[in-house]
Amino acid sequence: METIAVYPGSFDPVTNGHIDLIQRSAALFDKVVVAILKNANKTPLFSVQERRKMLKSAIQGLDNVTIAAFSGLLVDFAEQAGASVIIRGIRAISDYEYELQMALMNRRLSNKIETVFMLPAESYSFLSSKLVKEIALHGGAIQGLVPEEVEKQLHNKFNINN
Ligand code: PNS
Repeated sequence: METIAVYPGSFDPVTNGHIDLIQRSAALFDKVVVAILKNANKTPLFSVQERRKMLKSAIQGLDNVTIAAFSGLLVDFAEQAGASVIIRGIRAISDYEYELQMALMNRRLSNKIETVFMLPAESYSFLSSKLVKEIALHGGAIQGLVPEEVEKQLHNKFNINN
């Protein structure tokens, strides 16, 4: 039986750390569904459509990876997608507490789905969408932290001409 994994997140925007995890997951599981949260209470910088477009260009060549958007409970989405695994990345120990809480709560909500924690390449262990946005807003260099397309879109959003 094939194993389908869901990799959920805000992806506002996708970073090279996310892409690193998508590549690692695609090598481990039969299918990977990257699931963009339609943020209900956070105000994202990029619309779902924009986030999806940037992800799509970032996963070119990974034939077993698809992109979806979801609202509501993650476990409900995962079950509908036929997934038995939720992938979450852990960068530093500071991520662990929140991730543990979420994983155990998701297990309580559905015992059919297992959370698998994965480590990105250590060169991305300091990287987050939040920091990338902050650096881009103030005109700092984000080269190498996000795909070129994302760099372009961030510069467009913040009206930076470089
Ligand atoms: O990239 P993020 O913002 O850390 O991702 C958080 C995400 C999308 C995994 C989390 O907010 C989520 O699963 N939201 C869906 C609602 C839900 O299922 N909440 C209960 C989690 S225990």
